[in-house]
Parts: sequence; structure tokens; C-alpha cells
Amino acid sequence: MTEWWRRAVIYQVYPRSFQDSNTDGVGDLPGLLQRLEYLAWLGVDALWLSPVYPSPMADFGYDVSDYTGIDALFGDLADFDRVVAKAHALGLKVILDFVPNHTSDRHPWFAESRSSRANPKRDWYIWRDGKTGGPPTNWLSEFGGSAWTFDAATGQYYYHAYLAAQPDLNWRNPEVRAAMHAAMRFWLDRGVDGFRLDTIEHLIEDSALRDNPPNENWTPADPPTQKLRRRFTTDQPEISEALQGLRSVTDDYDNRVLIGETYLPLERVVTYYGHGIHLPFNFHLIGAAWQAKTIAALIQRYEDLLPPGAWPNWVLGNHDRSRIAARVGPAQARIAAMLLLTLRGTPTMYYGDELGLSDVPIHPERVQDPWEKNVPGHGLGRDPVRTPMPWDGSLHGGFSSAEPWLPLNTDSTKLNVEVLRDDPASILTLYRKLLALRSRTPALSIGDYGHIGHDRNVLMFERRHDQSLYMIALNMSATEITVSLPNSGRVALSTHLDRETESFVRLVALRADEGVVLALNT
Ligand code: GLC
Repeated sequence: MTEWWRRAVIYQVYPRSFQDSNTDGVGDLPGLLQRLEYLAWLGVDALWLSPVYPSPMADFGYDVSDYTGIDALFGDLADFDRVVAKAHALGLKVILDFVPNHTSDRHPWFAESRSSRANPKRDWYIWRDGKTGGPPTNWLSEFGGSAWTFDAATGQYYYHAYLAAQPDLNWRNPEVRAAMHAAMRFWLDRGVDGFRLDTIEHLIEDSALRDNPPNENWTPADPPTQKLRRRFTTDQPEISEALQGLRSVTDDYDNRVLIGETYLPLERVVTYYGHGIHLPFNFHLIGAAWQAKTIAALIQRYEDLLPPGAWPNWVLGNHDRSRIAARVGPAQARIAAMLLLTLRGTPTMYYGDELGLSDVPIHPERVQDPWEKNVPGHGLGRDPVRTPMPWDGSLHGGFSSAEPWLPLNTDSTKLNVEVLRDDPASILTLYRKLLALRSRTPALSIGDYGHIGHDRNVLMFERRHDQSLYMIALNMSATEITVSLPNSGRVALSTHLDRETESFVRLVALRADEGVVLALNT
């Protein structure tokens, strides 16, 4: 049996920005409920929901103050159950974001932990004495400054890989593991189909508290948060056992998936399969230079590194990184869509990318993201990629009837779901056709990958299953290039959406920025 998540296409919803239902300018679960039909219409198989737990929102939900509830901003547990029930009725799986590395500093566990050195929960977090009048190590927070914050009441420092408002849990403590396992079971029992595990490479730090070494590649133009290599703060060997504990909880239930957030070199990402993660996120398309040669080499390297039986996955963007349309431009955003949805491996789409939505400039007075506030001027701010989904041409794009928490794209009267869904040449139509083609074509979903490489700036590869053979040719340049094929066949889909069923005899002329899926005669 092929597990569902091998065939599935995952769609990430950033709940604050998908659909508001109660006129507070922030998206919520009843809003999402109304929009589930859209996801079914689009043709994705699973939705991953960024955190909706109770949270002071210092990091917009990635600072959890209760792992078994829903923040009132988003609704309540009954709303959540309705989302799961309706999603399932529509044939959509639901993947919850789970944040194991840290809690909010307002979580009752941390309140207890910081209350005294003798508190039974003291060891649930990472408390250490300072060293020569400063923090215990030189470790840096991902969000700027030292990763240690001094707590005057008890005279010790606590560790936080992110904000001071996000203290790291101590995963060496068996009580912490048990508490997190119980939280996962709470949601598994409610019917969620899996978890996306937040920032798992940070789960455990060096017990000897060794200082991180300097990053030789750092230049003053780079963010100060990158001055050190993360040698002793990420990807530590003990993470494996902790993650395998999460996997054994998940394995008590049928058909659930564990996806892990892993911002690591590819040769390290693939080790997380061995730690029990079904799909350690492969983010390497995000940073790669957008040229056929580079992408071809990346795909081949990843395919070569995958351990036996490991299923690949690909990501173009998410709530933390610049949008694909902003990175490669509108013409190549279509090529990116075809690439993502024809590669071997589970694709994860980010809401709005199917509209060709780009990064939305945010006026300094409207900045929300703590990362931008802490480390200004380095383009780290994530607000531009978290703007409200433009559903129609009305005021606030049909997202809300109140002023949204972040502004919409300025062209939302033209760039919105309602306009693009009726346009036979739009990127939304392309996404929908690609999703339909992938879902009815085993060669494109579960088929083998055959490397061809690049011909000038055209990326080419094949997908094969039983007797069926498909070739994908993606022109990553703005000039026309003719490619030759080993056989004749027909065009199954073009990014230009105007030559389906056209047949060819060994040669296909690709227009500027055109990609094609070709069905070859076998
Ligand atoms: C992950 C999330 C990001 C968050 C961080 C801290 O990287 O994707 O949004 O800020 O973890 O939880």
C-alpha cells in the first residue's frame, strides 16, 4: 500500500491570513471552514495549519501557552472539530503544526519553572548559571541577541533559541517528553492526520555548553544572528531518540504523518528519515539559484542522498521565506509551479502562491514580525509573505470586512481568486490543471525519477511508472529553445495553457519561460 502522504499535495494555511469571520481583521477557524471547498476545488490533498493554540502571539502562535486548546482569536475546540470533520468529508487531510522546541514564557509550566530553583518544573527548561558576569555561552538567538536571558528573581539564565518569550524546553527531561506526547495524543485522538514539527533541529543543545565557533563566511552585510556557526545548538545526536519517541506515539495511530522543519544542509536533512520523520522538509529549492544547471544538480544530489525507502519532498515557500513569485518573477513562477508538481516527492504549497502572489511591501509603521523588529534592515521580516488571501475584488479582498492585521496586495482588485479562477490562462488555472494531472497520473505522483539534466537553460527530467513515460522540460530562460526527445508523443500540459493535446515528433519548441509536461509514446 502506498501511504497517502506519498501521493498527497500539502497546502499550508497561515490561519491569521486566510479568512476572517468575526470582523476583527484576523483570520480564524470558522473563516477557514467556509474556504475548505476552495481547497477541494483546487485539488490539494491535505492542509497544514500553522499554530492555532492559545498564545500571547509574540511570534504569532509559535509561542504556545497551552498545547491542548484553541486561541480565542481563532475560535474554540468545537470550531476546530468542525474544520477537521468538513475537511475529511471533502477528502482533505489535516496536519497540525506542533511546536515541541519551546513554549511561551506565559505557559504555566514556565511560570512554575521560573518561580524558584527548587520548583519541580525547574528542570523542564534550560536554566544555567552565568559565566564571568555574562551568559553561560556565546549562543545567539535566531531572532537576534544572546540566546540567554537573565532572570533576576532566581539569579540564573534561561535558554531560548528564538525570542526571550519562547523559552526552550529541556528535551532531556522524561517528564517533558511525556507531557508533549500527551499533547500529541490529544490531537491524534481528535482525528488530525499528522503534524508538522516546528524547528526540530533545535530540540537539544550541547550538554557541555560549548561555545559556538565563528562563521568564517560572515560579512558585516549579513545579519548579526549569523556570526556564529550553530555547531553546538542544532542537529545534536540526542535529537534522534527524542524524535523517535514522537514517532512511536504517532505509530499508535493509523495513517498519520510526521513532517519536520529542517533548515540544514541536504546531507543532514536526509538523516532525519532515520530519526523517525516521514518527511523532513527539503527547503533547498528556496535558496537555490534559479537556473536549470543548478536545479538539475540539486535534484540529482537529493535523489542520490535519500536513504533506501525514504520518500522525497519539495517546498517552494512558506510563512518564513520570500514568496516564489518575488524570488523568480511572475513568468518563472509558472515554471516553479510545474517543477514543484512534477518532481518526485510530496510537494508543499504555500497559500497564495497559486495566485502568483508576491511579497507585499509593509510600511515600517505596520511591521508586526518580531524578527524584523529585533534585526531591522536585513530583509528578514516575514510580514510581506503573510498578507491576507485576496479572495475577490471587494474592500479587503473578501478576507475581512474590517481593516486586516496586515495590508493586502495593492493589486488585489485584479489579483484575486474570483478573477483568476475564471481566466483560462491564469496561474491559478495552471495550478489546478497541474494538480489534476498529477493526481490522475501515477507516473507523476509515485513514479520513478529519471535524470536528464539541462540543455542550455532548459531543465529536463522524466517520470516513469509501469508503461507510462512523461518528460518534463522547463525553459528557465526568456529565449525560445527547441529540445529533442527520444520519441514522439503529445503535450499533456504547457505552462502557457494553450497547446494541450498537441502532438510532436521528437522535437518540441519551447517559448520563452515555457514549461511542458510531455507524454511519450512507449
Ligand atoms: C519556525 C517557524 C517560525 C517560527 C520559529 C520559532 O521556524 O516556522 O515561523 O518563528 O520556528 O517557533
